[in-house]
Amino acid sequence: MTASSRDIVLSVDGLKTWFHSRDGVAKSVDGVTFDLARGETLAIVGESGSGKSVTSLSIMGLLPKPAGRIEAGKILFRDRGGKHHDLAQASASTLRRIRGAEIAMIFQEPMTSLNPLYTVGDQIAEAVLQHEGGSHAAALKRAQEMLERVEIPAAARRVNEYPHQMSGGMRQRVMIALALACNPSVLIADEPTTALDVTVQAQILDLLRRLQAESGMSILFVTHNLGVVAEIAHRVAVMYAGRVVEDAGVYDLFERPTHPYTRGLLSCIPTAALLASRERLQPIPGNVPSVLALPPGCTFAPRCPIAEPACTQAVPELLPVWPEHLARCIKVTPQ
Ligand SMILES: Nc1ncnc2c1ncn2[C@@H]1O[C@H](COP(=O)(O)OP(=O)(O)O)[C@@H](O)[C@H]1O
Ligand SMILES: [Mg+2]
Repeated sequence: MTASSRDIVLSVDGLKTWFHSRDGVAKSVDGVTFDLARGETLAIVGESGSGKSVTSLSIMGLLPKPAGRIEAGKILFRDRGGKHHDLAQASASTLRRIRGAEIAMIFQEPMTSLNPLYTVGDQIAEAVLQHEGGSHAAALKRAQEMLERVEIPAAARRVNEYPHQMSGGMRQRVMIALALACNPSVLIADEPTTALDVTVQAQILDLLRRLQAESGMSILFVTHNLGVVAEIAHRVAVMYAGRVVEDAGVYDLFERPTHPYTRGLLSCIPTAALLASRERLQPIPGNVPSVLALPPGCTFAPRCPIAEPACTQAVPELLPVWPEHLARCIKVTPQ
């Protein structure tokens, strides 16, 4: 896709979300920029602590208050009617209206979002009633249809079950049914398959792909797993210490990773060629910096094999290196 043909529904620009505490200011998200197009899956990939969940919660308006605050940046969302909203500035009532109905989220652990005291059918019906109204019977019928859509066998019986009666994979399907009950245009999936074993994970990824093809929804897929990225993403934004450091189409990213951090990440994946050569995997030396004390300039510089003094002078900009391929590194020259 070329820049002009991507139909952007969600545009995050220079987002900074910080946490204020007695220990200081944690700059968990400190310059996140990406665009999500209609019908597209954008993977946000990065190590644990890089700010992926805080980015998702900022979009949803679900930051823990008052410690977490959006300090700068825009979160432009285009609603069903074509109207643009800056979710970074939106009122609580606008966020409530958009959340669930237009942007929905699923989490790694379904039990944090499912209520153990209600049947799964009642929970899905409740979401439908809250956003669309109508009768309880009609909402329950919709709940059963949603369970069928997410391929839960014997949906007519399972609609009356409680979350604890289901396996982890089935519960994640219920979460997806709940998230999609109001037909949102954007689904944020925060590590939705991380707690599942690999076969169930593959089934859930298949399901999400199929549902996306049917509905044309956009998916922001948060993961630390590059194998999952290769399976599901059209585009990838790589995060490091609260910033997007590279953004490219999925083939392009795996084909010609550009930022030294992305190159390091990719060299950590075992390949057949590597196994055959009997060489060792090369982990990136050093650790992710603390968000309470980010290093100046490029936050990856202290671990970077090609860093030079200029790298610590100023935060590099996220710039195009090829068409549709951006990197935040002064050592990379645009082609
Ligand atoms: N409620 C909070 N209060 C203070 N710091 C937080 C809070 N939530 C997250 N953080 C910090 O923000 C950083 C990014 O967290 P998170 O977005 O959850 O990372 P990821 O999802 O990429 O693993 C972490 O260093 C984390 O400690
Ligand atoms: Mg997370």
